[in-house]
Amino acid sequence: MTMNLQTGDGNEILRAISKPVPKVTKAIKHFALDMVKTMEAENGVGLAAPQVGRNIRLIICKLNPGERNEVIIPMVNPELLEISDECEEGEEGCLSLPGVWGKVTRPKQILLRYQNLKGKDTTLELSDFNARIVQHEIDHLNGILFTDDAVGVEQRSPEEVAHI
Ligand code: NI
Repeated sequence: MTMNLQTGDGNEILRAISKPVPKVTKAIKHFALDMVKTMEAENGVGLAAPQVGRNIRLIICKLNPGERNEVIIPMVNPELLEISDECEEGEEGCLSLPGVWGKVTRPKQILLRYQNLKGKDTTLELSDFNARIVQHEIDHLNGILFTDDAVGVEQRSPEEVAHI
């Protein structure tokens, strides 16, 4: 089942701080798989639970999008353990702000910890666009939209924007 997207800069659900997931239950797994379907249906490369109406710390990330090693990873309670001093500017869009485009400067590399859908702690080192996707999604869990920190924000046709 796909779900409706929460949209808009002032949306209260998008602006709330999301709560940790205490346990990876069957219901959480089902919800995460519905999020994957929704992200795919909307051609996104990432989706956070608040974007489909629930303020819990759960994100879906499509890493290496468009490449042969593309992989979709649901991440429960994701947290950044380390971020690089080196930063990089890159273009972003967001499924919750359709057609809006801007450039955001973010750390180039991250060390990340999350629980997978079996409840197992996992750490992952990511860089470049993969690191950007994860940071954008974690921002959603903290009520932050990319336009809060973006420069050169403008409206484009939604097809032109990579929606995170
Ligand atoms: Ni987004």
